[in-house]
Order: sequence, then C-alpha cells, then structure tokens
Amino acid sequence: MVVTGAARGIGRAAARAFATVGARVFAVDRDGDGVERTAAGLAHPARHRARCYDLRDIDGLGALIGEARESLGGLWALAHVAGVLRRQPMDEIREEDWDLHLDVDLKAGFFLCRAFGQALVAQGGGGRIINFSSPGFIKGTRKGAHAYVAAKGGVVSMSRDFARWYGPHGITVNTVVPGPIDTAMQHTDNTEEVVAAGVADCPLGRLGQPEEVASVVVFLASDHASYISGAAVSVTGGALMY
Ligand SMILES: NC(=O)c1ccc[n+]([C@@H]2O[C@H](COP(=O)([O-])OP(=O)(O)OC[C@H]3O[C@@H](n4cnc5c(N)ncnc54)[C@H](O)[C@@H]3O)[C@@H](O)[C@H]2O)c1
Repeated sequence: MVVTGAARGIGRAAARAFATVGARVFAVDRDGDGVERTAAGLAHPARHRARCYDLRDIDGLGALIGEARESLGGLWALAHVAGVLRRQPMDEIREEDWDLHLDVDLKAGFFLCRAFGQALVAQGGGGRIINFSSPGFIKGTRKGAHAYVAAKGGVVSMSRDFARWYGPHGITVNTVVPGPIDTAMQHTDNTEEVVAAGVADCPLGRLGQPEEVASVVVFLASDHASYISGAAVSVTGGALMY
C-alpha cells in the first residue's frame, strides 16, 4: 500500500491500519523524520519503507511509484492522504496561498494518481485509488479555508473522472470526505470557537479520531469494496449528509 501524508494525522493512522491487517506500506511524506517515525512504529517494521518526498516534485512521481512497486513487490492501493491547509480571511488570500493549495491539494494528486493508475494498468489485475476531500466541497466554508475548498472540490471531480478512465482496468477510485478530525490540521490557524462550532454541527457531538477514518481507507482498499467506485464517502459523524 502506498500512503501519502504518512508522517502524522490520518495518513499515519492509515499506514498503521494497513500494517495491522498485514499489508506492506510504502509511507510517503515531505516530513522525513515524521515518516521515518511512522514506519518504525508499524507492525513488523522491516516490511515497510519510509520515503521523504515533496509531492510537488511532479517530474519525479513516476520514479517514486516505481520505487514503491519494487519495495512492495507489486502495487495494489494508493491512499493519497497528504494535504495542506492555511486558514485565512477571504480578503487576505494572496496568489501564493492559492498556488500552494492548488499545487499540493489538487495538482500533485492528479499527477500522482495518474502515475499510479498507469503503473496499475501496466501491471494488470486492477487496484484501488483513494483520495481525500473535505466537506467544504459541498458546503463551502466560513472558516477561512477558501482556496483549500476550491482544490478539494476539484479532488472529487478528478477522482470521478479517474474512476471512469481506470474502471475498465478493474481499478476503483474513491474519495474520502472526513469531517472534523482531531489532527494537527484541525487545530492549525484555528480557534477553539471554530473547532467547537464544528463539534456542535456534528450529530455525534465530538471530533473524529484519525483511526476512524483510517478504517474506511482499509475498507475501500479491500475486496469488500470491490463494487464501490466514484464515491465520495462521508466520514463526518453525520456532519455532512448527502
Ligand atoms: N483533519 C481534518 O479535520 C480534516 C478534515 C477534512 C479533510 N481532511 C483531509 O484529510 C487529509 C489528512 O488530513 P490530516 O488532518 O491528517 O492532516 P495533517 O496536516 O495532520 O497531515 C498532513 C500530512 O501531509 C503532509 N504533506 C503536506 N504537504 C505535502 C507535500 N507537498 N508532499 C508530501 N507530504 C505533504 C504533511 O507533512 C503531513 O504529514 C488531508 O488531505 C486533509 O485535507 C482533514
């Protein structure tokens, strides 16, 4: 399994969940120390590999997937969890903020998924691609994540397009839509009031834990999810119903 954003948060939990069910993990993050710590803490650490990589390096993505194939002895699932969020008032967003979100949250994902899809097609036998969006793709945001939600809306459209493109090869492509999850991203540039408002808006009345999202990633990568493709799966405690 290839897991991006594996240095912390949901990506780290997904790497752990895959390792726990016996899968080998190729863990990727631009935070080299963090991703090393994740890999070292997985069940049977010698079976896994940590790779420090900034996904904005588009030209190297094909080689990265080649490394993953060699390390894992074949490819099955990509869980592309990595993302970036700067919360800013609408009127303070600069072009560089817009570019950061679009580059990391959308552009890198397109070229990564395509490289992974191409490798799966060449390998034969199907596979799984799992991307990450945000409830803002439907609701918008009042919390200053304006450029972020624009990119995350694109992730859903892109994933559905990939689902059509790669479906004939037995490859499913889905998007996970987490609600408020208790990670560093949830608390960065945020106020306790905004976090509390998210909890109040959630029928379960609490933040989700990264493990509660990771289990859905493992499900989507499994044979149990063989007829699910093009879905945007809400893991929001009911905060987003559609
Ligand atoms: N936490 C939430 O409440 C929440 C809600 C909705 C959606 N999401 C989405 O879920 C995913 C995981 O979120 P999280 O809360 O675990 O985030 P996080 O900030 O805790 O972790 C994100 C990880 O991505 C890595 N990363 C960022 N840019 C990168 C790059 N260019 N190259 C490689 N790695 C990079 C970071 O180093 C970090 O380890 C993200 O896509 C996020 O947008 C999270």
